[in-house]
Amino acid sequence: MADGHATGERAKFREMLEGTKEDWEIIAENSRIFNKGLAKRVLDHLRLLDGDFGGFPIDRLQHSLQTATRAHRDGRDEEYVVCALLHDIGDTLGSMNHPDVAAAILKPFVSEANLWMVANHGAFQGYYFFEYLGLDKNMREQFKDSPHYQRCAEFCHKYDQAAFDPDYESEPLEFFEPMVERVFSKPKNSMYLRKQE
Ligand SMILES: [Fe+2]
Ligand SMILES: [Fe+2]
Repeated sequence: MADGHATGERAKFREMLEGTKEDWEIIAENSRIFNKGLAKRVLDHLRLLDGDFGGFPIDRLQHSLQTATRAHRDGRDEEYVVCALLHDIGDTLGSMNHPDVAAAILKPFVSEANLWMVANHGAFQGYYFFEYLGLDKNMREQFKDSPHYQRCAEFCHKYDQAAFDPDYESEPLEFFEPMVERVFSKPKNSMYLRKQE
């Protein structure tokens, strides 16, 4: 059951107004089981970037692996490395706002600093190419007073903008899977968490 399969039991209400404690115990148990499969679902979604080049020198999965590998080899902690791995996971469904998608997925599980870094990396990454697209390369300056400005600038400089080298030997996705499992097993911020959890 720990692999994400439901219990098979169903609540009996036709509208939530009729809901009972028993109904919600069934749903809560199914939710507990489903949540255990979250890391796997996230990794499956990340794999959609495989073969998606978008004109870049390497595909978006390889870019993600290279960003995470560079962060890992530079001594970053596990949560940071997972953020690096997933920072572009939103490219599939959020092609006009991909950092927001990654941030929404990571929000319950990471620190405010790491969340800010993921959520805003798009403007900081733009420092390296916006001028070629008629955009403001200094768009990141709108965040100059943020306590997380330097963290995000460093992420883009050292790992994200640097991760397009076809000759770099990245770790495979399997290398990062246990890290993703651990980070996604410990939610810190969610309106669905009870106080004692
Ligand atoms: Fe990005
Ligand atoms: Fe990226």
